[in-house]
Amino acid sequence: MNKQGDSCLVIEAPTKLNLFLHITGQRPDGYHLLESLFAFTRTGDRIKIAASDKLSLDVSGPFAKDIDSPVHDNLVYRAVKAVEKHVGMAIQAHIHLEKNLPVAAGIGGGSSDAAATLVGLNACFNLGITDAELYEIAGTLGADVPACLSKRPQFVTGIGDLVRPTALTFAGHIVLVNPGLAVSTPTIFKAFHDHSLDFQPSLGDAPDDAWTSIEALMSKTVNSLQPATIALVPEVQNCIDVLAEAEGCKIVRMSGSGATCFGLFRAPEEAEAAAKVVKSHHPEWWVRVDQLVLA
Ligand code: C5P
Repeated sequence: MNKQGDSCLVIEAPTKLNLFLHITGQRPDGYHLLESLFAFTRTGDRIKIAASDKLSLDVSGPFAKDIDSPVHDNLVYRAVKAVEKHVGMAIQAHIHLEKNLPVAAGIGGGSSDAAATLVGLNACFNLGITDAELYEIAGTLGADVPACLSKRPQFVTGIGDLVRPTALTFAGHIVLVNPGLAVSTPTIFKAFHDHSLDFQPSLGDAPDDAWTSIEALMSKTVNSLQPATIALVPEVQNCIDVLAEAEGCKIVRMSGSGATCFGLFRAPEEAEAAAKVVKSHHPEWWVRVDQLVLA
């Protein structure tokens, strides 16, 4: 499929944060059941799609060097192939991925890139894929790719594939900190069992406001995987400790299976000041300030 003209569109593939992540059980096929509040920041990776006479993909940005080689393993490429299969024709596009987020970092990089690619191709080439179909295609690419389609806060259940839109009730200025260590999600799930960590009781039919305020997040929720990741990657505890000391930090927690941690602040200047302090103490860490999308 081709389209006249050069650059078709630029689409943001934002950072995904698990404001909480409760592991509530395990399916017979090994996948874990979870309950999680997914939220997205304003920025992250970026994908540019341009019509071309053949399919190609290239990557730039600070973390381009960490992208899987060969390119066929990349989730963006796999997203294109999934779209081709769905529409039954070849996509002729040049896709550029600007990789600004660390990989294997618990902030959805690959999943968010894949979701943005699906949405972008559909818009760019007028493919007419419905939201329900996009959601289904996304599910074939990874457990949390469907949740990354909307880029809005969602209560997520199942294995990460069942989503319910929700809204946050606070201004969330975020400081992201990663100690520079890639973390394998399956390894962390294994460590969760090796350390005999407990499943979290289900939140059941609790209303959204039981977990969408800062106070409820702090007092009623956790990241079930955090102790397992800290056991394998002790630097995560250092990230948490440094953020927790920052003035105005309301919540500090690891996202996903790590190793990225986030501090949540009400005021932008508090977040900027905290990031500056973290950077000055740990120039080798990845530190980024961003803002949550609230609804
Ligand atoms: O689906 P995705 O490729 O993101 O998952 C990576 C791995 O993480 C899975 O192969 C599985 O080992 C683990 N996982 C899990 N339960 C989930 C999601 C992922 O055990 N709900």
